[in-house]
Amino acid sequence: MGDLSITAQYTSAVWAWGKLPCAELFATPDAQRVFDVTNAALAAATLLRPRTPLRIALLHRHAMIDHLLADAAPRRVLELAAGLSRRGAAVSADPAVHYLEMDLAAVSAHKRTLLARTAAGRAVLARPNYELVAGDVAEAPFPPADLVIAEGLLMYLDAPARARLFAKVAAVTSARFVFDLTPRDEEPPPGLAGRALEAAMKRFTGGRSFEKDLRTRADVLRELRAAGFTEVAALGSGDVARAWALPYADQATPTVVFTARASRSTPA
Ligand SMILES: C[S@@+](CC[C@H](N)C(=O)[O-])C[C@H]1O[C@@H](n2cnc3c(N)ncnc32)[C@H](O)[C@@H]1O
Repeated sequence: MGDLSITAQYTSAVWAWGKLPCAELFATPDAQRVFDVTNAALAAATLLRPRTPLRIALLHRHAMIDHLLADAAPRRVLELAAGLSRRGAAVSADPAVHYLEMDLAAVSAHKRTLLARTAAGRAVLARPNYELVAGDVAEAPFPPADLVIAEGLLMYLDAPARARLFAKVAAVTSARFVFDLTPRDEEPPPGLAGRALEAAMKRFTGGRSFEKDLRTRADVLRELRAAGFTEVAALGSGDVARAWALPYADQATPTVVFTARASRSTPA
């Protein structure tokens, strides 16, 4: 697998490192290698200016989204760019929740292969309430959902692509939308680590890197309202770490998660 799926391998290894339920279903030696190499490069780059490791910021975002999902108690979840995330496998253990995961064809096929390796994975694939769908979020139709999740995706979209995605999700009736995105003014100051991560991203993704046009949380909230969302809100990991019992709650990370409600929603 090339391109952005490498980032899915890194995050899948983070979920395994964090011992999150079902993460073991997606563990591979390749993902472990991507994890080890990336962490070593980041550690070397932060020797002079120590900062909280990327894997902890990612664990914060994943746990925050898990918390919001549990709170929303949805019956139908659509997870966009689900990659090799363990969330769908874990949540669909409840037969009352229909969980549809969408990602690019190569990643979805790889995920299916990984699940097919074990009896526990095959049991997930056999669930009538679990769907693994190949689709580009820019083109594939979105089914009805109570909750739409996009984790680790928005930072790769430029302004026009972001606006198109916001409009598409806003049209999903009844949906609450949850995604992560750290605005530029909350990113740690650029240094060796930032440049190392950016260089690694460009290498893995054939030139694509993080979009940095959103300066503040207010910019993101404004775009969400313009797309037709209501009840828009931003949550920083530091605001909720202790109350939500996030892993490594004492570590400061720049993780920001946004929530919004599609304007055509029926109130809960
Ligand atoms: C950083 S990974 C995050 C994966 C997963 N959400 C997680 O947090 O573990 C980014 C994911 O976005 C997917 N992706 C990127 N562009 C996409 C698109 N246009 N349509 C669907 N998936 C996309 C990649 O294939 C990759 O799996």
